Amino acid sequence: MLKETRPDSSPLSLHKHKHVLVKFAVSFLLMGLAFRLFFPDSFFRFSTETTNASLSDPKTDSPLPLASSPDQSPLPLDLPENEIQTFQNETEEAEPEPEQEKCDIFKGDWIPDTSGPRYSNETCRVIESHQNCMKNGRPDSGYFYWRWNPRDCEIPRFDPQKFLDHMRNKSWAFIGDSISRNHVQSLLCILSQVEQAVEVYHDEEYRSKRWRFPSHNFTLSVIWTPFLIKAAIFENMDGISTSETQLYLDKLDRVWADQYESLDYVVIAGGKWFLKTAIYHEKDTVSGCHYCPGKNLTDFGFEYAYRKALELVLNFITASKHKPLVFLRTTTPDHFENGEWFSGGYCNRTVPLKEGEIELKDVDRVMRDIELEEFEKAAEIGSKNGVVLRLLDTTRLSLLRPDGHPGPYRQFQPFSEDKNAKVQNDCLHWCLPGPIDSWNDLVMELLVNGDKYQ
Ligand SMILES: *[C@@H]1O[C@H](CO)[C@@H](O)[C@H](O)[C@H]1NC(C)=O
Ligand SMILES: *[C@@H]1O[C@H](CO)[C@@H](O)[C@H](O)[C@H]1NC(C)=O
Ligand SMILES: *[C@@H]1O[C@H](CO)[C@@H](O)[C@H](O)[C@H]1NC(C)=O
Ligand SMILES: *[C@@H]1O[C@H](CO)[C@@H](O)[C@H](O)[C@H]1NC(C)=O
Ligand SMILES: *[C@@H]1O[C@H](CO)[C@@H](O)[C@H](O)[C@H]1NC(C)=O
Ligand SMILES: *[C@@H]1O[C@H](CO)[C@@H](O)[C@H](O)[C@H]1NC(C)=O
Ligand SMILES: *[C@@H]1O[C@H](CO)[C@@H](O)[C@H](O)[C@H]1NC(C)=O
Repeated sequence: MLKETRPDSSPLSLHKHKHVLVKFAVSFLLMGLAFRLFFPDSFFRFSTETTNASLSDPKTDSPLPLASSPDQSPLPLDLPENEIQTFQNETEEAEPEPEQEKCDIFKGDWIPDTSGPRYSNETCRVIESHQNCMKNGRPDSGYFYWRWNPRDCEIPRFDPQKFLDHMRNKSWAFIGDSISRNHVQSLLCILSQVEQAVEVYHDEEYRSKRWRFPSHNFTLSVIWTPFLIKAAIFENMDGISTSETQLYLDKLDRVWADQYESLDYVVIAGGKWFLKTAIYHEKDTVSGCHYCPGKNLTDFGFEYAYRKALELVLNFITASKHKPLVFLRTTTPDHFENGEWFSGGYCNRTVPLKEGEIELKDVDRVMRDIELEEFEKAAEIGSKNGVVLRLLDTTRLSLLRPDGHPGPYRQFQPFSEDKNAKVQNDCLHWCLPGPIDSWNDLVMELLVNGDKYQ
């Protein structure tokens, strides 16, 4: 990696943009800064990751007791081995719901649900400390008691036993940034009701990890690749950037592409890193940039790079001889109110919103539109090549959950010493347990009944 120490350019110059209104160009900038805070490597370094002690990393601080074992309620193992291939058919028979064909499972409301979370900070050992809201002292717990209810159909709760049975001998990866990590941790926690995962790999910075479920011969990984394409990132562990990101718009990030053939299921997502200042490279030369005043480069805007990146990624997927089932997850909204992360923005709501009570921020709308367009194109090509792509369109349902973020409880007991302490809010990642658990219900539903929703 190149080592450059050039400081960031001043963020005060005007940012002109062709396609996006200038009024929110400023917010891109601020967001760019915000994501330095919220996506730095340091987020993952101090994970409370615990597996068998021998496999845990010695550098990881691990305040969670290792003794707690999950509630192992015996779930029926009702699927003989030879039926595993008939996952789809068997489930359709089990739940004949002819009306479901018209259902958009991503459209609906959050409704009260007394059943509560499926795991807790006590039963799940892999919750990132910054998302462990229970442990960190978040006082309210109302946000646990809501269920996503699609308008025109019911979706069942994720069944971890069934999932693991069907994942026998399979390999599954979440590919993306720290939101993908948040998502994989939710899945690990849900699955921990049935079997504890054993961590078998982590990269140097604990950003990419792999776990095994030995009794199911199932491998689950998270691959950290915030841009999905080749990038040189000059951020230290504290998220301080020493130089602009160099983005190679015509080269995939080999970190995931080289593993692709070993994967049976993939949940891939791009996202907010594209909002940061970046220099764009194409055909081995600098072609432009996003927010680089004083550089005498054409500012293409982040949409240009995001579209190119998704196009490249999806072209790779649809052209590959290897054909895992691929989910493309849409962008996740943040909920900073009355400011940004650095200017006192917070997210202290305690109940979900209803549709119409909140608008998607412009950046999220732009990103999701690009995702939908590129998905449609790729799904079309994929359908001719036998590649199955599913859209995991979690943006809007997540938008209705401003109550699901850690806020100040990204830190351990932030107000224990000073009730009025000024602490950093995280209104982007999700508490675990929390609304992000519902993303897995949707993954499960698409896995089982995906054909219905195309
Ligand atoms: C992990 O620990 C459990 C008991 O806590 C043990 O049964 C299992 O064999 C261990 N797995 C590995 C890979 O060490
Ligand atoms: C599912 O059922 C259809 C007929 O309804 C059959 O053609 C197909 O092979 C079955 N799929 C599997 C995986 O068994
Ligand atoms: C879980 O959270 C509760 C507060 O909700 C706390 O008292 C407890 O110590 C936490 N347990 C662990 C293992 O962190
Ligand atoms: C899993 O792999 C083992 C060993 O190759 C094989 O015996 C078993 O039938 C496989 N199970 C499934 C469900 O593919
Ligand atoms: C585990 O799954 C892999 C395929 O992913 C298979 O090659 C291997 O034989 C399986 N091992 C066992 C013990 O079932
Ligand atoms: C900016 O770039 C253009 C074309 O690359 C060049 O002609 C021009 O001299 C540059 N301007 C400055 C101030 O460097
Ligand atoms: C959220 O915080 C703001 C500012 O501190 C306060 O005015 C508001 O009442 C709080 N709302 C809730 C639901 O606690």
